[in-house]
Amino acid sequence: MSNHIRIISFPSILWFVLLLLRSSFSDAKTVPLFFIFGDSLVDAGNNNYLHTIAKANVKPYGIDYTPSGGKPTGRFCNGKTFLDLTVDEFGGSCYPPPSLSLSPDDDGTLCGVNYASSGGGILNDTGALFLERISMDAQIDTYANTRQNMITNLGREKATELLKNAVFPIVVGSNDFLDNFLTPIIGTREYIPQDVFIAQMLDMHYSQLTRLHSLDARFIIIWNVPPIGCMPLERKMNPWYGGKCADSANELVSDYNKKLKDMITELRPNLSEVTLLFVDAYYVLYDLLLHKSDYGIKVAGEGCCTNVGPVVELFPCKETSTYCEDRSKYAFWDEYHPSEFVNRLSVKRYMDGDTKHVLPFNIRRAMKLRGF
Ligand SMILES: *[C@@H]1O[C@H](CO)[C@@H](O)[C@H](O)[C@H]1NC(C)=O
Ligand SMILES: *[C@@H]1O[C@H](CO)[C@@H](O)[C@H](O)[C@H]1NC(C)=O
Repeated sequence: MSNHIRIISFPSILWFVLLLLRSSFSDAKTVPLFFIFGDSLVDAGNNNYLHTIAKANVKPYGIDYTPSGGKPTGRFCNGKTFLDLTVDEFGGSCYPPPSLSLSPDDDGTLCGVNYASSGGGILNDTGALFLERISMDAQIDTYANTRQNMITNLGREKATELLKNAVFPIVVGSNDFLDNFLTPIIGTREYIPQDVFIAQMLDMHYSQLTRLHSLDARFIIIWNVPPIGCMPLERKMNPWYGGKCADSANELVSDYNKKLKDMITELRPNLSEVTLLFVDAYYVLYDLLLHKSDYGIKVAGEGCCTNVGPVVELFPCKETSTYCEDRSKYAFWDEYHPSEFVNRLSVKRYMDGDTKHVLPFNIRRAMKLRGF
């Protein structure tokens, strides 16, 4: 013990104390605003306001969601989405409300805004089979309006400062495959080759990202597309894989994910002052499923909540659906969406995982770097 004390010199103790003071007083930032874009993985209730079959505003959705006391909110989960849990990690005390619950002159300064819409995608025509939904382009249009309101209320300088310190999570792309490329009959277009389709997605996404940057986004976190072939729905629709993950769907999104990663790597140095994270949600979920027994998960091939009968599996759960008792034994809550239990395991990796999970470094490190 005394040896240790002798090694630590007085100047280094002083330096340490100064560091502590610095981090606890002068540099302490408040919780950032969150401007959230994406699909049903992170929708917090926008679709409640739309004419759509993709709604989660009935029981048993939200059964484990403590902030509402177990009432449905529009989240496609039994509990918190992985972005709710990410906001928790930033010390947030409020979740960004759905944009459609706010007045058109809202400036987002309460805690940000959630623009995500179930069924929405990178491409405008994605999700047409669900009827109304908000595409990525339309979500960014609404954000541009929020930003304009903020400038009107606070002045350009203060607004820019707030936005440059905000977080911009983007969770989109699954529906472009599930409800567009893989279901061409339902859409209005003819069959498009995979390469051409993926190139269209990347072109659109590139414009969306650069547009967000031009609208003051500086801390952007992009989730790639999860292994959609492992969703209970895809396992059932591709029975020749014997209930295992549908490799064909996973290969398709892996092709996109690789090209997305390359695009982000090339884009990163071109955007000034940006922290642009690439979360490998595919790797994280696939790895969790592969090692599910390590986490006590018993069932991955079907959702906890299921509709009974043919075809009805395609639809969200409803009040007549049956659901499991122990949600921590199931990887998926319904046919498409992970359970809160899996969301919690995933967020651990997004926050603290190595470069297999997040590039160029994890969210915790990015928080520190940006002074949170
Ligand atoms: C997509 O829709 C937006 C309106 O939300 C429009 O501004 C944009 O031009 C459309 N893009 C394409 C490629 O059709
Ligand atoms: C990045 O900038 C370089 C140099 O201006 C350009 O050649 C390249 O196409 C840009 N890439 C992206 C993805 O923006």
